[in-house]
Amino acid sequence: MAEVTLFLREYAKTRQDVGAIAPSSARLCRALTRYMIPNPGRSRAVLEVGPGTGAVTRYITDSLGRLDTVDLIEANPRFADLLRQTYADDPRLRIRTGLIQEQELGSYDTIVCGLPFANFDARTTEEIFDRLLGSLRPGGTMSFFGYVGGETIRRAFADGVDRERTLAGLGALRRILRRHTFRTETVLGNLPPARVHHLAPVSPPAHSEPVPTCDCRNTSP
Ligand SMILES: C[S@@+](CC[C@H](N)C(=O)[O-])C[C@H]1O[C@@H](n2cnc3c(N)ncnc32)[C@H](O)[C@@H]1O
Repeated sequence: MAEVTLFLREYAKTRQDVGAIAPSSARLCRALTRYMIPNPGRSRAVLEVGPGTGAVTRYITDSLGRLDTVDLIEANPRFADLLRQTYADDPRLRIRTGLIQEQELGSYDTIVCGLPFANFDARTTEEIFDRLLGSLRPGGTMSFFGYVGGETIRRAFADGVDRERTLAGLGALRRILRRHTFRTETVLGNLPPARVHHLAPVSPPAHSEPVPTCDCRNTSP
């Protein structure tokens, strides 16, 4: 409950950056971590961008092996402090405070991203995707989400200079999705319903076959 309160308080203060009225639901978290495929043969490196209060982080840590590692990069210092307290005893997690654009990245098997791209300008979106997709290991995947209808709402309410910026940002996002998405699923059990996109650098990853689920259905990007 304390996490939800913190999330709502930070949303009220920094709406553009937080970009969601509530932490992701269990169903959304499961869809976002769907491609965290266990690999008993070797350790995996995971990056979570924009973990917020840690809703998705819990699902990531649940499927983590003893030698796996997770980098968490969160811009909001209050969220980052909460995560540091929560994971103080787990050496597999490294928590960094700051913008993803300003961080040095390692190389990762799985990236889970919670950033509100619908609020970003085209240049920021392109820069972030370039860096994230470029830091994936061969066969690696990146998963992120947007809200169903979010694009339409952003378009309807933007005016003046903000309208151009919004349209350019959404256009950049659409181009990236067209090029890199190997699967999109709709998660109705979230407030609001969300669309999860699974991306790979250029060609589909080794494990891109559809995973059967009951709460999601395939949609076009
Ligand atoms: C929509 S919330 C997602 C929170 C959480 N992952 C979830 O699903 O419940 C977006 C998070 O991204 C963070 N954020 C926004 N812009 C960022 C950036 N450029 N670099 C790192 N984190 C950022 C915000 O502070 C916020 O915690």
